[in-house]
Amino acid sequence: SFGNHVSIVVFGASGDLAKKKTFPALFGLFREGQLPSSVKIIGYARSEIDDADFKKRISAHFKGGDENKIQEFLKLTSYISGGYDSEESFTKLKESIESYEAENGVEKSERLFYLALPPSTFTTVASTLKKVVYDKNGTTRLIVEKPFGHDLESSRTLQKDLAPLFTEEELYRIDHYLGKEMVKNLLVLRFGNEMFNGVWNKDHIKSIQVSFKEAFGTQGRGGYFDSIGIVRDVMQNHLLQVLTLLTMDRPVSFDPEAVRDEKVKILKAFGELETDDILLGQYGKSEDGKEPGYLDDETVKSDSKCVTYAALGIQIHNERWEGVPIVLRAGKALDESKVEIRIQFKPVARGMFKEIQRNELVIRIQPDEAVYLKINSKIPGISTETSMTDLDLTYSTRYSKDFWIPEAYEALIRDCYLGNHSNFVRDDELDISWALFTPLLNYIESDKAPAPEIYPYGSKGPKGLRDFLKKHGYVFADEGTYQWPLTNPT
Ligand code: BG6
Repeated sequence: SFGNHVSIVVFGASGDLAKKKTFPALFGLFREGQLPSSVKIIGYARSEIDDADFKKRISAHFKGGDENKIQEFLKLTSYISGGYDSEESFTKLKESIESYEAENGVEKSERLFYLALPPSTFTTVASTLKKVVYDKNGTTRLIVEKPFGHDLESSRTLQKDLAPLFTEEELYRIDHYLGKEMVKNLLVLRFGNEMFNGVWNKDHIKSIQVSFKEAFGTQGRGGYFDSIGIVRDVMQNHLLQVLTLLTMDRPVSFDPEAVRDEKVKILKAFGELETDDILLGQYGKSEDGKEPGYLDDETVKSDSKCVTYAALGIQIHNERWEGVPIVLRAGKALDESKVEIRIQFKPVARGMFKEIQRNELVIRIQPDEAVYLKINSKIPGISTETSMTDLDLTYSTRYSKDFWIPEAYEALIRDCYLGNHSNFVRDDELDISWALFTPLLNYIESDKAPAPEIYPYGSKGPKGLRDFLKKHGYVFADEGTYQWPLTNPT
């Protein structure tokens, strides 16, 4: 782990990501006593603003902590403005780091660089860093953010350019879903409970879904989103990561490489993504006309076929999963914001029961983390009928409010600080995920793909969804037999 005198440099310090995520996460760690008060934090960006202005900007998004804490934290920070290829400005940065290290008698430097920047600048920054600031006698860690490329080819180019500059050991590729509490819990739930571990296969599981829903549209990010689409934005990375953790085999230990080896292994067993096993949508105006359609965004091409909703059928060809239908689905501008996993089990033998529903395990990643298992139980009292109920672990009712659950970025920056790579994306993992998704993306973006179905802003998504899920083995429970506020899976 890093010690008490670490220099943390955030590039792109005046940008949105740094302002909304990186600095608030650093502050959150500091507030919780997870970041020593002797570190040095430097914001670096092109904008010519002064220290005071910079501090005002970043603190606008801090959560929790009183004014004293905020001021204490801000004292650790300073700002340097300069270009991303300017050796002169990088020299200023280097001098600032070195004088901090000298003042504190640091013998072996520890430096963390966070690239909160668009990928087009990664290589430039990385190479200027290497040339001007890099200390080969110290320890350097470099955090980079998605998108890591646009497809397999560009991802490989980026990889090829970065690899000679920073080793895999030094690189930390953030996929912030890996920092979410419930995602971090997946391996414990699966491998720490024999009652889940034992049934986690094709003999007992009928279908799997990983679903991502957002109740808002691209809101001003249209220009960015138009060349990205929902598949690149959240499926090739966030949802695939969740699915990987959900389907991989037991790693020999929690050792980062043991975990990542298993992830790569399962990804290699994924079947090609079939272009005729997808459902694509784009949101239009809301039914009441109040919310804009995707194409109403002025920064978007007026005839854009950009996909804001997708459901994909996935097959895994190994002993554990052969034949189990898996659906990844994600959409913007839907009826609610929710990310969850649904695992439906096979039906029990009929005989005793005329009609009995299937067990279903739901793992809700957000909001309000929960794990609940739908089970059949006798209706209490003189009745001999069964009804569906649940074993329910909802965090907000089970754990006290004083529990500090770190935000995803807080958890990941802390991991990086500790030198733990478990929750970061390894190079080979990244490569396979692009190899898997690139043919599908090429198809979706070609003329061969059908135009996405328009669904109203604030709806459940394309009309075909229910049938798509049924086709993939999901059985909808009869309305009314099961009482749970979140019972409707679409
Ligand atoms: C980002 C995507 O990676 O993840 C956004 O670019 C998306 O479009 C976001 O909204 C979702 O993250 P979270 O943590 O809000 O679920």
